[in-house]
Amino acid sequence: MDRRYFLHFSVLTAGYLFTGCEERGTTDKKKPQKSPEAGSTLEKISIQEEKVFEKVIPFTQKLKIPDEINFSKVDKALFSAQKSKVNLFSDAKTDVLTFQGDLPNPTIRISKGGTFNLDFTNNLTDPTIIHWHGLIVPEEMDGHPKDAISTNQSKHYHYKVEQNAGTYWYHTHPHGRTGEEIYHGLSGLYIIEDKEEDYLNLPKDEFEVPLVIQDRRFDKKRQLLYKNPAFLPDNNGVIGDVILVNATPIPFHEVKTGKYRLRILNGSSVRTYKLAFDTIEQFLLIGTDAGLLEEPVSVESVVLSVAERVDIIVDFKDKQVGDKVILKTLGFKDGNNFGLNPDYPGFDAVMDIMQFHITENFKDTSVLPKKLVSIPRMKESEAVKTRRITMEVISGGIWTLDKKPYDMHRIDQRVKLGSTEIWELKNSIHMAHPFHIHGVRFQVLDRDGKMAFPTDKGWKDTVIVMPNEMVRIIVHFTMPGFFVYHCHILEHEDHSMMANFLVE
Ligand code: C2O
Ligand code: CU
Ligand code: CU
Repeated sequence: MDRRYFLHFSVLTAGYLFTGCEERGTTDKKKPQKSPEAGSTLEKISIQEEKVFEKVIPFTQKLKIPDEINFSKVDKALFSAQKSKVNLFSDAKTDVLTFQGDLPNPTIRISKGGTFNLDFTNNLTDPTIIHWHGLIVPEEMDGHPKDAISTNQSKHYHYKVEQNAGTYWYHTHPHGRTGEEIYHGLSGLYIIEDKEEDYLNLPKDEFEVPLVIQDRRFDKKRQLLYKNPAFLPDNNGVIGDVILVNATPIPFHEVKTGKYRLRILNGSSVRTYKLAFDTIEQFLLIGTDAGLLEEPVSVESVVLSVAERVDIIVDFKDKQVGDKVILKTLGFKDGNNFGLNPDYPGFDAVMDIMQFHITENFKDTSVLPKKLVSIPRMKESEAVKTRRITMEVISGGIWTLDKKPYDMHRIDQRVKLGSTEIWELKNSIHMAHPFHIHGVRFQVLDRDGKMAFPTDKGWKDTVIVMPNEMVRIIVHFTMPGFFVYHCHILEHEDHSMMANFLVE
């Protein structure tokens, strides 16, 4: 067994009682210690007993590639949220939730101008709804939590896709249960293509690989463990010790000595990744949440908070057949000083995500264009209004925006259709929040913190707001209707860091 994965598993002191506003002490996770004065350890012990102590041997399972539903080939698709038993591990069936009976859920592929057409049935015992994250579609199609449908009911989704190429995603969005449902499987990728992108000749087919990254917890029977409701740090966000990529635990993927386009989504509950390769120093960032960048940017690592996407090009040309390259997270301590479950690797943990096995020589003659697309910059002078949204914890440890717990029907902001606004996103907590708005795409104007992110240059629908930082974004509102904006840490949006705006 590989010790690396067990370093973080040791019993840590957890003698603090979480009250929401309290910052957790800076326990050094690398030095496991037993504390004689640890407080209420009873609930902690029961959590540890549930934990899986069996090793998940990394890089032994082949990366699963999701099937595709391509709307240039089919007219209609059928989804039903359902309980399923699937082989996440080859040696056991795990109880999960799926849309079509297996995991990973299919990737939707559609061209700009195409029509999306899907019948959705809820076969769960609670109401739910599907949201198309990043899509700018009419309110009835967006999947607002108020539109959740009951058990055995169906909803017909039908809309035209009018926006540019990019890597989007879909997931369920019932109020208070989004975290649990996504955790158990209810999400997938949604790729939009357009002519402009096609023209660029980016790597495609086997050289285009989608990667949905999600950390999870399993028990000894290989069943998923979600949060322990009695254990308050889990309400701050559920972290896990086993990283799934496309629903495959710490997998490997066979590649040739050429360029690959990786479309990466962080579909985790709370964890922010700092992605890097162990033996490839530089790779190219070519796209963000809602489309391509103006030009490729060479980076050594990229920070990806929950719900963000990056489109990257990695080149294996200098590798030999037989070589192996690990995609890992370097850890991102800056993103969190808040109390999360100490039984699992924290934000600072270096973790392996997957491994690429170079298995074939390939003469890659393709050339990546220097210029990708143009991104017209929105001007501050066009903004007719500036709003400030604050991220706060109120008493009882409730995560909120502007100190108001979410109300599905309350209008928190009224926006004029067709207008441009600046939103100042102010985080006053020692934990980063990925802030997301439905029904728009936006640009980042600036952040007052020291950290700069190359992803800030692209079209965004989710932006990381660092601890105590203020990020200013500029948004043009083109779709009328009632939508939500929220923190995309799943346990935060469920509890109750979300609000509504009406565009009219
Ligand atoms: Cu990923 Cu409210 O959305
Ligand atoms: Cu969304
Ligand atoms: Cu949050």
